[in-house]
Amino acid sequence: TNTVRIGLLGCGNVGGALIPLIEQQSDVIEARTGIRLEVTRVAVRNVARDRGVTLADGVLTRDAMAVVTDPDIDLVIEVIGGIEPARELITAALRAGKPVVTGNKELLANVGHELFAIADEAGVDLLFEAAVAGGIPLIRPLRESLRGEPVTRVMGILNGTTNFILTKMTEEGAEYATALAEAQELGYAERDPTADVEGYDAGAKAAIIASIAYGSRVVAGDVYHEGISAITAADIGVASRLGYVVKLLGIVEQDPETGAVAVRVHPAMVPKHHPLASVRESFNAVFVEGDAVGQLMFYGRGAGGAPTASAVLGDVIDAAVNLSKGTHATLGSFGRATIMGIDETS
Ligand code: HSE
Repeated sequence: TNTVRIGLLGCGNVGGALIPLIEQQSDVIEARTGIRLEVTRVAVRNVARDRGVTLADGVLTRDAMAVVTDPDIDLVIEVIGGIEPARELITAALRAGKPVVTGNKELLANVGHELFAIADEAGVDLLFEAAVAGGIPLIRPLRESLRGEPVTRVMGILNGTTNFILTKMTEEGAEYATALAEAQELGYAERDPTADVEGYDAGAKAAIIASIAYGSRVVAGDVYHEGISAITAADIGVASRLGYVVKLLGIVEQDPETGAVAVRVHPAMVPKHHPLASVRESFNAVFVEGDAVGQLMFYGRGAGGAPTASAVLGDVIDAAVNLSKGTHATLGSFGRATIMGIDETS
């Protein structure tokens, strides 16, 4: 057995779910891969806070950079979120030849291309299944299973908080503010829920999807977005009478002629018979259309500690196996995409 020692950066919702999941699955993982995963160090801002997980003495530290540079750490998981210090920490880990698994959509949607290049140069994995739609496998299917596919369009319900709010407004006639408070209580919302309700969170995820689906660099700033804060119960009622439900969609398309990419997030009227219309509460779904494959839908929990931890762990196992074989997944070079304006799309 080969032990892979993990340095975990951040121990909130996701980290707190990941530690027990690794413990629970470690025998199965070892039996299947010959690798023993061990969470050796955990960096947190507040070491006194109770996280509901049992850790041996000395595992917790406040010094995240010391974890990254610790020669006893083989692999780094970043679930702190935000751009700095995550960017600095991930860069240091990759340069030290350590694979990194992250769920940080904000970071990847802004400087992902820079980190991909560093990972490729260092010859180690940088995996991020958890960054888009939490527990739903999407990045790997797009990157691997569908890499030969002429993907024409990806449309997704990429934000659980807003889908929860819209569901409560549609089905229960709930007030916007009440529904938002409930979503926050359930732990779906971002620290600043503006990111959810104004479409920035879905926009970051759409930028990552566009980058992976089209192998080109699309950043958060390229995304047109419009949120749900101006939607009223009356709007939803009118849509319903016409046979539609209102959903906040992230839409990614490529012009087959020019290769230009359009990425936008806005409320949309979805026909009630479309599979995306049946996605309720905080669930996410991503609808992929390709010339050869036809239509696919990925559905599940796009937020929350345990589902997101599941995606992180899948990546950790992949990265650990690759590390033990001395290989890594190639991300390829991401040339800057030509971005299509909203008025140029169909
Ligand atoms: N705030 C996000 C959501 C969390 O509501 O979907 C997952 O990225």
